[in-house]
Amino acid sequence: MTEKDFKAEPYQYFSDSGKVTWKAPSNIALVKYWGKLANQIPANPSISFTLDACATSTSVAYQKKEDGKEGFSFDLLFEGKPKEDFKPKIETFFKRIEFYVPFLKDYHFTIETSNSFPHSSGIASSASGMAALSLCLLDVEKQLNPGMNEEFFKKKASFLARLGSGSACRSIEGDLIQWGEHPQIPNSSNLYGIKYPFEVNPVFKNYHDTILLVHKGQKQVSSTVGHDLMHGHPYAQNRFQQAFGNLDKFKSIFAGGDLEEFIKIVESEALTLHAMMMTSMPYFILMKPDTLEIINKIWKYRTDTKVPICFTLDAGANVHVLYPESVKEKAIQFIQDELVVHCEKGHYICDRIGIGAKIIADQ
Ligand code: DP6
Repeated sequence: MTEKDFKAEPYQYFSDSGKVTWKAPSNIALVKYWGKLANQIPANPSISFTLDACATSTSVAYQKKEDGKEGFSFDLLFEGKPKEDFKPKIETFFKRIEFYVPFLKDYHFTIETSNSFPHSSGIASSASGMAALSLCLLDVEKQLNPGMNEEFFKKKASFLARLGSGSACRSIEGDLIQWGEHPQIPNSSNLYGIKYPFEVNPVFKNYHDTILLVHKGQKQVSSTVGHDLMHGHPYAQNRFQQAFGNLDKFKSIFAGGDLEEFIKIVESEALTLHAMMMTSMPYFILMKPDTLEIINKIWKYRTDTKVPICFTLDAGANVHVLYPESVKEKAIQFIQDELVVHCEKGHYICDRIGIGAKIIADQ
């Protein structure tokens, strides 16, 4: 499919008002997206586990505009309170997607959004937030064009979410989502995420992700700036090739369930992501001393016990500890005994692989 396929069909109905609500989860990348071209096209393909507990719920109420004013019209409430500083991001998002959802200027929207995780947890809410908002907007479009089929609905929701935040396109469905063209992955696309099309061993079906909140403050460098620094980065081309190669390697790992090989790629991807930050110009470090303490403790524990527990990182200091269901008790015990001391105020979130976004029925 190309961008043009996502242009809206002429609307068949006109609705004066209504309200829709969706809950979309966050996701954690195993092969990382870091570097992009114009229009939110990724420089390399990525893959992620969709999460379950970390999610954003968004409702969009729409009312036909009566004032005839040009431009977008919306109010934004975050956790029940007006949130002016989120509005420019939504305005930019609306501009980017207007061509694909042309009803945007016909209505006044009241957008109410809240996260399941604390706002100041340092967990990026852009993936789940943009996914939930895209689903709501597409649901409105579905009311204007009821013929839209389920498969197209999900693809277009992912397509819109990508235009809000790249990784958000992997937060529509579960449980293992791939985004970005790859010669060996049929139907892979730079425009939206797809369900990983190859065999996946049951060991990956109920994986756990315990998120250790090492640093809850705002990051010093945003993802957008970080992506930008991959332009002209001395190692960029090799890094992009490595991501393609890691997706190739994952094919037999996902099918066979070889956790030792899985861990090698996941941890290498996390450290490579941070290595890219440390070797860009300007350079920066998002890990904190406690991030490194946790990594070293995980390595020691794994060597000593052979329990297949590993880590990955996002663009921040928090650590995602990944482990299969079969070692859940041991892993939680280890986390509580040795790792929680490195978390800010001892805070961590127990999450696991999930099945994707869902509609919330109107109360
Ligand atoms: C490190 O999706 O937040 O989490 O497209 O600029 O909104 P924008 O970036 P964003 O980047 C996420 C980067 C990452 C890796 C990943 O999730 O693949």
